[in-house]
Amino acid sequence: MQNIYAMNTAYQNLLKEAQTLINSGKPRTLILKETSVLLKNNVHHYDWVGFYILDENQILILGPYSGKPTEHTAIAIGQGVCGQVAESLKLKVVQDVSKEGNYIACSLDVQSEIVVPILREGQFKAEIDIDSHSPAPFTPEDEEFLGKLCCQLSVLF
Ligand code: SME
Repeated sequence: MQNIYAMNTAYQNLLKEAQTLINSGKPRTLILKETSVLLKNNVHHYDWVGFYILDENQILILGPYSGKPTEHTAIAIGQGVCGQVAESLKLKVVQDVSKEGNYIACSLDVQSEIVVPILREGQFKAEIDIDSHSPAPFTPEDEEFLGKLCCQLSVLF
């Protein structure tokens, strides 16, 4: 079947740049940090880009990020949008955070959020969390782009 949401060139180029970073042999933390900066600096509606990594106690621990510091450095499974994705293993888009009942507010500027799981052999390892100050900015292109990015990043876990 034809993919009607063919990704734009900008997203395709970002995937290539991310792959170069992944292949660089740099430490994982540095690759994730540089990826978060790459995304925040190049996608207008990405205002905070960060990674949460599952630890041995099954808690999501804030990893590298780009954007304002957040006090939410540890999140339980099921808690907030991040915790829901760790439980369902499925990407979640919240186009209007004021309508999401299970949401942890980081900043009053945030209007929408997308969280995409990073799985390795079907196991949840980490996730990318993106906040936006724009209302309902996320399209199926974002979902495809971030899904592919998380597949690429999974080799680091
Ligand atoms: N809003 C997230 C918490 C993390 S901050 O966005 C950085 C949530 O509801 O899980």
